[in-house]
Formats: sequence, structure tokens, C-alpha cells
Amino acid sequence: MVRHKPLVVITRKLPELIETRMMELFDARLNAEDAPLSEVELIAAFQEADIVVPTVTDRIDRAVIENAGPNLKLIASFGTGVDHIDLDAAKEGGLVVTNTPGVLTEDTADMTMALILASARRLIEGAVMIREGRWKGWAPTLLLGQRLWGKRLGIIGMGRIGQAVARRARGFGLSIHYHNRHRVHPEIEAELEATYWDSLDQMIARVDIVSVNCPHTPATFHLLSARRLKLLQPHAVIVNTARGEIIDQAALVELLREGKIASAGLDVYEHEPKVDGELLKLGNLVLLPHVASATVEGRIAMGERVLVNVKTFVDGHTPPDRVIEAP
Ligand code: 8YV
Repeated sequence: MVRHKPLVVITRKLPELIETRMMELFDARLNAEDAPLSEVELIAAFQEADIVVPTVTDRIDRAVIENAGPNLKLIASFGTGVDHIDLDAAKEGGLVVTNTPGVLTEDTADMTMALILASARRLIEGAVMIREGRWKGWAPTLLLGQRLWGKRLGIIGMGRIGQAVARRARGFGLSIHYHNRHRVHPEIEAELEATYWDSLDQMIARVDIVSVNCPHTPATFHLLSARRLKLLQPHAVIVNTARGEIIDQAALVELLREGKIASAGLDVYEHEPKVDGELLKLGNLVLLPHVASATVEGRIAMGERVLVNVKTFVDGHTPPDRVIEAP
């Protein structure tokens, strides 16, 4: 009996190495143009495929899942965050969902430090000044930033990425404070000399820098609400490499515009890829296009995790990175 290879629809262009292996192992449908799928195209993919490999740019809501064809069994997402997938609907539909945890921790932590440094030391303002030919020479008060050494960093979300940020930050002389659903293991707390705050309000009112490193879930939507953001000190810097939805972006813009906090370094936004025009008007910001995990090595490692998840599932085993399992 000839066994047909499963149809795997990959919604975005992935590293060549990963796409080639996908083609060898499965009946893979690639997206050579790399244009994000429209809602109609996404629904069509879900109707036809056995397995879909989406990314953060695909909004897999209840309608997409409820319209899926009978063959669809696995959503093997390329990425760690799964807030673009309606997990309740997937569970009800008997689908398995996997992600790619662990492989983008170090890259994301590097970029978090880059944003902290760039925001506190006004790196973009200096770079733009040079490029625009506005630099008139050295001056004692030119572009004075804030020293990192000896300051307090408050990490929101002390999972893998939060801890990797903390390790780096200690090398820069920052003391570590954190807020997390659960207190981390005492050994990790001791290694990082980290101070745990059960109350996020109390922590953010006391730290000099805030880094957002928790996942976006219904519980963390606007965790940094307008009320909470107002607790930040006027010299505070806030960086976000997690998800835009965790911060009330309109409230953040307001505080920055009024000079009530010093700066922000953002890699993610509410309503991506739209970037609030008000953010673009503010010179004291560092804005990046969701690239915290964008390294060649990281993307290949993410692809390899997707391959492992899909292949184990196709072979009838339990894929390692299950976010939810079929009931
Ligand atoms: C990925 C991310 O690049 O994995 C995540 O959760 O936010 C990014 O670093 C993107 O999500 C890939 O889908």
C-alpha cells in the first residue's frame, strides 16, 4: 500500500535548510513569496492541510479552527508565543498545538540588553545625529544618558528569558528584582541575587529599568495598565521584547510624551505590524521591528524544533513541545 505523505502547509518563508528538509519528509507547501496569508488563504490552508506550520503573523482564531478540514490534526507553530492561536478552540476541535520553546532564549535576552543599553544611553539619538550631519563636535553635556552600573532592573516574568536577561544584566552591574506568578527556585534566586516582589505595583515604583519578559495571556493583557505605568519613576526606562499587548501602549505614549518616564525600548507593539504614529514622533525611543530572536542560528533552531514536532507526530508519537494536547 502506498502511504501518502501528509500535506504540511508552511505559512511563511523559513530558512532554506528547514524548507528543504520539510520537502524531503512531507508533502510540504512553501510560501516562496513570503507574503502573509490573508484570512481567506489561511482558512483555505486549514481546510486542506493535515498539518499547518504558522507563525505569529497568522491570526488563528475560532473561525479558522472551526472551519478546518477533517484532515487537520496538528498546528506546529514556528515561535514560542502562542497568543496568535485560540487554544480553547483548538482543544475543543481536538487539535494538537506545538511551539518552539528554549531555542530563542539567549538571542531574545541579548536584544533585551541591547534595548536597555540603547534606551538608557540614547544610542539611536546619537546615531541619527551623526547620519543627519547635525553633530557639531564633542560637548560636556551632549546626549547625557543614565549609568547602568548600580541601578535596579525589574524583570516582569522570570522564566527562561527573564533569567537569561538577569544573568547578562548582572554583568552590567544591575541589581535584579523580579515579579513572577511563582517565586523561582531558591538556588536561582541566590545565583542571581534576585529580589522577589509579590506586588508588581511595589516593584515598578522602586526600580530604574523595567523589562517585560512574560508571555501574553488573558492574565497579562495590559498588565502594565495606565494606572500601573504611572507608578514608574520619572527617570525610568522600560523595555519590551515579549508582546505589545502586555503594556497599555496608548498610556505609555502619553507618559513618554509628557516626560513622565525617560525612555522606552520596544521590539513589539499592540496591533502589529501597525506602529502607533505617536510613538514615531518621540525621539527618546528605541523602536525595533519584532526582531529580538532574529538570528540565523535561532531561526534554524526554531525550524528544527518544528521538524521534530511534526515528524514525531506523523510517526504516531507525542511531539515534545505540546502546548495543548487533543482531549
Ligand atoms: C518569533 C516571538 O520570531 O517566538 C516568539 O514568540 O515572538 C518571535 O521571537 C515569532 O514569534 C515567530 O513566529
